[in-house]
Amino acid sequence: MEHRVTFLPKGKKTSVKEGTTLLEAAMEIGLSLRHKCGGNATCGTCRVQIEQGHENLSPVNQREIELLGEERLAQKFRLACQSKIKGPVTAKIPHWFPISNAKLED
Ligand code: FES
Repeated sequence: MEHRVTFLPKGKKTSVKEGTTLLEAAMEIGLSLRHKCGGNATCGTCRVQIEQGHENLSPVNQREIELLGEERLAQKFRLACQSKIKGPVTAKIPHWFPISNAKLED
């Protein structure tokens, strides 16, 4: 089963197989989404903000809780490399912002 994924702010769309991560989907259509650790959930650079379809992603895992923290999770940030697509999703690639959480590497 395929699901539609839209990446903001450019509005680029793709359809991907269930279980594909947001990072894989972004790379498939040539979007430059940082992923310093290569998708191993240790850098936090692949974070995206979910605009629609938060419920259509795999549940937040322990690494995301540790790397993103409560505040960013409440703002619907996810690690793209950890978020598996289970339905239509719209995700925003944020402007790079200064790091306030020391665990998040630039
Ligand atoms: S690519 Fe490093 S945490 Fe996702």
